[in-house]
Amino acid sequence: MATILVTGGTGFIGRNLCQRALDTGWQVIVLTRNSKAAAKKLPPAVQLIERLSDLNPDLAIEAVVNLAGQPLAEGRWTEARKQNFIDSRVGTTTDLYTFFSARDLKPSVLISGSAIGYYGPGEHSVDESATGTDCFSHRLCSDWEASAAKFEKLGCRVCYLRTGIVLGDEGALAKMLPAFKLALGGPMGTGEQWMSWVHIEDMLSLIMHCVDNKNLSGPVNATAPNPATNRQFSKALGAALKRPAIFTMPAPVVKLLFGEMGEELLLQGQSVVPKKLKDSGFEFQYPNLDLALTDLLG
Ligand SMILES: NC(=O)c1ccc[n+]([C@@H]2O[C@H](COP(=O)([O-])OP(=O)(O)OC[C@H]3O[C@@H](n4cnc5c(N)ncnc54)[C@H](OP(=O)(O)O)[C@@H]3O)[C@@H](O)[C@H]2O)c1
Repeated sequence: MATILVTGGTGFIGRNLCQRALDTGWQVIVLTRNSKAAAKKLPPAVQLIERLSDLNPDLAIEAVVNLAGQPLAEGRWTEARKQNFIDSRVGTTTDLYTFFSARDLKPSVLISGSAIGYYGPGEHSVDESATGTDCFSHRLCSDWEASAAKFEKLGCRVCYLRTGIVLGDEGALAKMLPAFKLALGGPMGTGEQWMSWVHIEDMLSLIMHCVDNKNLSGPVNATAPNPATNRQFSKALGAALKRPAIFTMPAPVVKLLFGEMGEELLLQGQSVVPKKLKDSGFEFQYPNLDLALTDLLG
C-alpha cells in the first residue's frame, strides 16, 4: 500500500481528499498543528502527526499533497494577516523541503497548493502559460510555488495547483448560501468579473490525476472548463435555489466592508482554463456550473 502525506488535511479540500485517498487504497498520513482536533475531523484510518520527525524513517512516502495555509477569505487583510498567509504556506513548504532534503527516502511527487489569484485580475481567458499581473494574491502564489519548486532538486516531480473557487459544502459556496437563500443575494460590483470555479469532486479527482500522471508537472489550473461571470454565477445560484438573485452590492460597499480582500477576491477575477488537465486527458464530471450547483444544492 503506497503512502500519501497531506498537509492541511483537516481543511475543506484536505478532509475530502483523505477520504478519497483511503477509498482508492492509499495509506494516509496528515501533518496537523493539532492532532486531537484533527482526530475529530478525520477517519480513524488516517495517521496523524504534529511533526515531520514523527514519521517512521523507514516508511517511503510516495506522494505529498501540500494544502496547509491560513484561510484568506475570513476578514480584512491587515499587514500582519498578509504576512501570516505567506508564512503559513511558504513556511510549511520550506519545512517539508528541509525535512525531505535530509531524508534518504524522497517522495516521487509533490502536489502543492496555489490559486488562480496567481494570474491577478483580468478580462481575457488565461491558461498555464500566462505570467500574471502584480497584486498581493499574485505575490503570495508566486512565493508559494517557488518554495515548492525546490523539491525538483530532490528529483521529485512537482505540480502547483492553481485552484479556482472550490464548490462544495464548505468554502465560498457555504458563505454565499445564507444571503441567496433569503433572496438577498446577487452580483457584486459590475458583476462582469470572472469566477473560475471547480466542483469538489472534480478537485479531488484532478489531485489524484496529478499524483498518478507522470507527464504532468509545473503549474496546473484546477478549474472547470467553463468559468462564469459573477452575474452569471449569481443567476445560476439563484436558479438552483429557486430564489431571485437581484440584490446587487455596489463596489464601494464591498471595498468599505472588506477592503483589499474584497477588491481582490470579490470585485476582481480571472477566467482560467484547465489546458494542461484537458491535454492530459482529464475528464471533468462537472464541467458546467448548472450541473455542479444542481448536484450540490439539488
Ligand atoms: N477552497 C478553495 O476554494 C481554495 C481556492 C484556491 C486555493 N485554495 C488553497 O488550497 C488550500 C486548501 O484549501 P481549503 O479550502 O481546504 O483550506 P482550509 O479549509 O482553510 O484548510 C487549510 C488547512 O491549513 C491548515 N492551516 C490553517 N491555518 C494555518 C496556519 N496558520 N499555519 C499552518 N497551517 C494552517 C489547517 O490544518 P491544521 O489545523 O490541521 O494544521 C487547515 O485545515 C489552502 O491553502 C487554500 O489557500 C483553496
